[in-house]
Amino acid sequence: MTELATPNVYEALSDEELRARVTALEAEAADIRARRLSLDMARGKPSAEQTALSRPMLDLVSSTTPLEDGGAVVDNYGTPDGLPSARRLAAQILGVSPDNVVVAGSSSLNLMHDLVCRAFTNGVAGQKPFWQQGEVKWLCPSPGYDRHFRVTEDLGITNVAIPLRADGPDMDTVQELVEDDPAVKGIWCVPKYANPTGITYSDEVVRRFAALRPAAPDFRVYWDNAYAVHAFGDTDDRLLNIFDELAQKGAGSLVYEFGSTAKVTFPSSGIAFVAADDHDMAEIRAAFAVERVSAEKFSQLAHARFLKDLDGVRAHMAKHAAVVRPRFELVERKLSEGLGGLGVAEWSHPHGGYFVSFEGRPGSARRTVALMAELGVKLTPAGATWPSGKDPRDTNIRIAPTYPTLDDLAAALDVFVVAVKLVAARLVLEARA
Ligand SMILES: Cc1ncc(COP(=O)(O)O)c(C=O)c1O
Repeated sequence: MTELATPNVYEALSDEELRARVTALEAEAADIRARRLSLDMARGKPSAEQTALSRPMLDLVSSTTPLEDGGAVVDNYGTPDGLPSARRLAAQILGVSPDNVVVAGSSSLNLMHDLVCRAFTNGVAGQKPFWQQGEVKWLCPSPGYDRHFRVTEDLGITNVAIPLRADGPDMDTVQELVEDDPAVKGIWCVPKYANPTGITYSDEVVRRFAALRPAAPDFRVYWDNAYAVHAFGDTDDRLLNIFDELAQKGAGSLVYEFGSTAKVTFPSSGIAFVAADDHDMAEIRAAFAVERVSAEKFSQLAHARFLKDLDGVRAHMAKHAAVVRPRFELVERKLSEGLGGLGVAEWSHPHGGYFVSFEGRPGSARRTVALMAELGVKLTPAGATWPSGKDPRDTNIRIAPTYPTLDDLAAALDVFVVAVKLVAARLVLEARA
């Protein structure tokens, strides 16, 4: 989303009309403040209704369950790559061979963190560890997922914000930086239903990723396919399989792909997985072998028994969609009724994932989030979707509609509409002063 196509209605008002409008909006805000609301639109997590969908999984492993899986033992060390049935399930979700997947732990972010740390301390593909290579840079398509950015920032890596467009990262910028600068060692990608904009990378963008010829042999694409199966509408966006594209081009090692069932079954108690080509997989296995003998397997067994295969996952996700869809429809309705045609805001219209990305006038996001807090509604901090929390135009706000009840969400969105209008009108008034 770039410049707004519609003119700002507040700019068309005379000074007197504008002052009257600000006064009226301030009165609306005062009424809301008096209601002492306590609402939250910040949490990108499933509602209790959604997590309840997976409770039956908890009954599938008990003291009488055979603790054996395709020849692997569940209740003892062994099978460090994960149980065969869990690897098959993860491989189907990611569209790769089970041989190229490791299932380990419950958090994909944890696996990403492990691999960046490993690159930092031990190096990738026989190259020197990052700590011995001087400045290391990481590309951060923005707005993006704040926790990705924190992983690299925490290690002293220089995060470089690059534009994220409707069809994916700006590939001219990516290509130039990756192919010309050997200090660029990685890029964070959420290729389907991106957090927060909800966009899915186009075929052209995926192909351009697969065609990259990095200046650094230890550059890797961190392809975080967290929302691979998270459509909530009638359309499911199609994402090209990046490993198929790499294979067609005969390319070398380039991509680590991640996923988890955090938002399929239980956040923090799902199963997490990573896929890569044979060479990278051997390196990842060796790295993980230092960290643990083998990962937790009861949860893997429960997941494989509960979800079974990709069809099982899709059937389960249809139940999530039935809960989630009305919330996204409500966001769309409230924002278009309240803000449509005013020329002060744009927002995304995702087919899946967990967020709506909101773009206000330049210089408005921090003020809107602060005003919302005063009015009793918590939002994700403004700027959080950019490296170091610095949104250069101060326009982006992440809306997370899944967790609140529909009634709370409706109330929070009504407040949001007033806050956005008041900040936009004040900005015009201040610019004239
Ligand atoms: C893009 C993305 N990746 C990863 C995660 C976290 O996944 P996990 O719970 O498997 O660490 C999230 C959670 O919001 C996310 O939005």
